[in-house]
Amino acid sequence: MVKIVSVHARQVLDSRGNPTVEAELSTSRGHFSAIVPSGASTGAHEAMELRDGAKEYAGKGVLKAVENVNSIISPKVSGRDFFSLDELDSFLNSLDGTANKSALGANAILPVSMAFCRALASHESMRLFEYIGRVSGTKDFVLPVPFLNVLNGGKHAGRENDIQEHMLVPSGFASFSEALRAGTETYHVLKGILRKKYGGEAALLGDEGGFCPKSASLDDRLEMMGKAVSEAGYSGEVHIALDCASSEFFKDGNYNIDGKEYTPMELVDFYAALVERFGLVSIEDGFAEDDWSGWRLFNSRMGKKIEIVGDDLLVTSVSRMKAAIERKACNALLLKVNQIGTVTESVEAARLAFRSQWRVMVSHRSGESEDSFISDLVVGLAAGQSKFGAPARSERTAKYNQLLRIEEALAETGKAKFAGKGPSA
Ligand code: PGA
Ligand code: ZN
Repeated sequence: MVKIVSVHARQVLDSRGNPTVEAELSTSRGHFSAIVPSGASTGAHEAMELRDGAKEYAGKGVLKAVENVNSIISPKVSGRDFFSLDELDSFLNSLDGTANKSALGANAILPVSMAFCRALASHESMRLFEYIGRVSGTKDFVLPVPFLNVLNGGKHAGRENDIQEHMLVPSGFASFSEALRAGTETYHVLKGILRKKYGGEAALLGDEGGFCPKSASLDDRLEMMGKAVSEAGYSGEVHIALDCASSEFFKDGNYNIDGKEYTPMELVDFYAALVERFGLVSIEDGFAEDDWSGWRLFNSRMGKKIEIVGDDLLVTSVSRMKAAIERKACNALLLKVNQIGTVTESVEAARLAFRSQWRVMVSHRSGESEDSFISDLVVGLAAGQSKFGAPARSERTAKYNQLLRIEEALAETGKAKFAGKGPSA
């Protein structure tokens, strides 16, 4: 049982220079804070992010959400004992009273939930990942295979009708730090290839720290990634994955990529050919958030061969996941804490995925901060895969650096297990 002494929220800035909410929660053990991330290619079914819509910050201020923490949540929880994170999160949900957290805002509820999770870990004298492990029933901690978004497209690079994320997947290594090194070395080799082919501008960075070669087609991008992997010396150990974020280029039943129209059936063939040519191991949001038949088609054709990840489709929601399980729409969950709005519900989503033999990838948002909560989350859940952007820009490296710290802490007990499959994978 832990007594919350006080909760205070403030407006701070995220990695895109947009306002976001930081909450600071105090207990007898100290002060615990957390910052909420924010997406750009957000799913229509996500929990509601409250924005002021006023003149300041072009409507993007979050002072209403801040006020909801300070004037509604804080008076109700301050001076009160909570037995568990679940108890606080359920209380916050009932205080909000809506299905999508639109009364208080997911960006008001989530930082309080995350900060209290940190407080509970401290009261148990545990590291955050250990505490999350206890809450989620994890037996053995696992360091994730990092999915590094090295080429940014779509909304993260100011482009339309474009595949959003092109990721390196360094899975064939014995440890997380070796995988991160190989992925980062490949990122630098890719930078050299881009500069040589397109000039210095092609190596400018997008929202998630990946390069944005303006004139490179999808084929060019994937070819250059393959070339970078082999020049870096990691063929067979570093693979390639995509997040298409296809809801962004879905219109009237069809998909428009780079000026070319595809029916859902044609898009399945298009992706299958990419898998064949470039050895893609994972495709996220290949189909739009409500195009269930497209998802089913794709999963029945490719689901045994590659990972098919639902992001906008599932929005980390147990009810959307149940629909996807029933319809056999995908085989992996992308887990984003702010899509659902509490830590407890995020853990529940992961647990449902594990029970359904799905894979789980814990993800950042394109708008991030220095908060590295999700690094502890991915290890605490033993999810096995992380999607934290390129190995550049402090809001991304904050996450990788925290994983390196966790790896070191686990190594001291001989338990720094890596989710990759070793050099032969
Ligand atoms: P977002 O992008 O944070 O802008 O939604 C990330 C993703 O689509 O996975
Ligand atoms: Zn996505």
